[in-house]
Amino acid sequence: MLYIGVDLGTSAVKLLLTDEKGQILNTVTNEYPVFFPHPGWSEQNPEDWITAVMAGIKELTAKVDGKQVAGLAVAGQMHGLVALDAEDKVIRPAILWNDGRTFAEVDYLNNEIGKARLSELTANIAFAGFTAPKILWMKKNEPENFAKIAKIMLPKDYVNYVLTGVHSCDYSDASGMLLLDVKNKCWSKEMIEICGLDESVLPALYESYDVTGTIKADIAAELGLSDGVKVVAGAGDNAAAAIGTGTVGNGGCNISLGTSGTVFISSENFGVDPNNALHAFAHADGSWHLMGCMLSAASCNKWFCDEILKTKDYGAEQVDITDDKLGNNRVFFLPYLMGERSPINDTDARAMFVGMSMDSTRSDMVQAVLEGVAFAIRDSFEVARALGVSPDTSMLCGGGAKSPLWRKIMANVLNVTITIPQTEQGPGYGGAMLAMTGCGEYPTVIDCAKELIKTSYEVKPDPELAARYEDRYQRFKEIYPAVKQLYKTLVK
Ligand code: XUL
Repeated sequence: MLYIGVDLGTSAVKLLLTDEKGQILNTVTNEYPVFFPHPGWSEQNPEDWITAVMAGIKELTAKVDGKQVAGLAVAGQMHGLVALDAEDKVIRPAILWNDGRTFAEVDYLNNEIGKARLSELTANIAFAGFTAPKILWMKKNEPENFAKIAKIMLPKDYVNYVLTGVHSCDYSDASGMLLLDVKNKCWSKEMIEICGLDESVLPALYESYDVTGTIKADIAAELGLSDGVKVVAGAGDNAAAAIGTGTVGNGGCNISLGTSGTVFISSENFGVDPNNALHAFAHADGSWHLMGCMLSAASCNKWFCDEILKTKDYGAEQVDITDDKLGNNRVFFLPYLMGERSPINDTDARAMFVGMSMDSTRSDMVQAVLEGVAFAIRDSFEVARALGVSPDTSMLCGGGAKSPLWRKIMANVLNVTITIPQTEQGPGYGGAMLAMTGCGEYPTVIDCAKELIKTSYEVKPDPELAARYEDRYQRFKEIYPAVKQLYKTLVK
């Protein structure tokens, strides 16, 4: 049988088709726009996702017998607010995970409701990208839209709804709404009340591998699939990427260098970071994880190359960054292009280069961008280390993981062995695995991961280079505290 994994990302949807042994038969990528209507805001049109997903599935399955497709799962960008009216029509553009407009609502939640209470209720505190602050923003700033809300959906759940007609959500993605009691895996009545909602606006909750429905007959016919295709609840993209790299069970670590950058640590047991710097979320294998998320990771390199250097050839920009230059760069880059979430939680923070002199080169700046992202990932890694979670090896996935140079920088900045999975398809591959498990090909997601995930090779840190990077990291750490106050007036 065949399985479809859909990765509903921020810049594009990436779809893949596998057989039940996990062999990838085809992949399709369809891009869609992100809108930045104000500095620090970030929105998308949910109908653009649907157009891209529908066209993507058609193209993906064009050369196979569509009737062989047994299951589908969507992994999606997390936290986005998709508000539907009583006719299930989208009320306004989706407000995305990297949108920073909700600073006043975050302040209210963290300081008036209080971080301690939020953490008791949801295992997390408020961050600007989370869904609950966005609901409060809509209530205050768009009361006429707020009054129309009949359903609150996350991005991938809206796609699932269009395919199946079922309003569903899985625990991993629901964790990032600040509406879920993560420990007990149920909606928090108190949080729903704080947001001025009725529980009926929230979808039904499932494990990521639970079958929630089948593709509707008319849609299946349009796609050339059988209408018995099972759809499982799916997962937040980070949980799905972790499944796709075999980061399941206890103590596994996966780092993703996508539009966002994440450090994902899987755990069989529920646990909360006492300072809430790392998110405590449910995992798509049925257990839990801790996660640090930086808002701009591979997107920093994309921005610098596309917008500033005006090139799409990212590899060519890295050719001059030879081994002797690593750990010796005097140029630093703070990667806060969209403000920052983990661990500094500062919507006002902005990116900057610092340390240039007349002999600084174009490639020093490219190197600084790659290193700045690695240093900021290390900031989250250090929080995990302080909690006694100290992985000595981590999987690496996402677009940035394709760069051999960036892999080496990551291994040496973090001083851990970086392992590259054989399939670099991240969330989409994890999605296909969830669909296979839901359709009974494997008894559990963990069994599926044991069977399918193979590593291709490792990048080990080099002690001398790691020591040089340790020195650079200590300097990097001084930059943000020194300029933090400045941002408060700069961005206003
Ligand atoms: C995680 C997060 C991002 C998005 C990216 O908390 O906000 O990683 O899921 O799609």
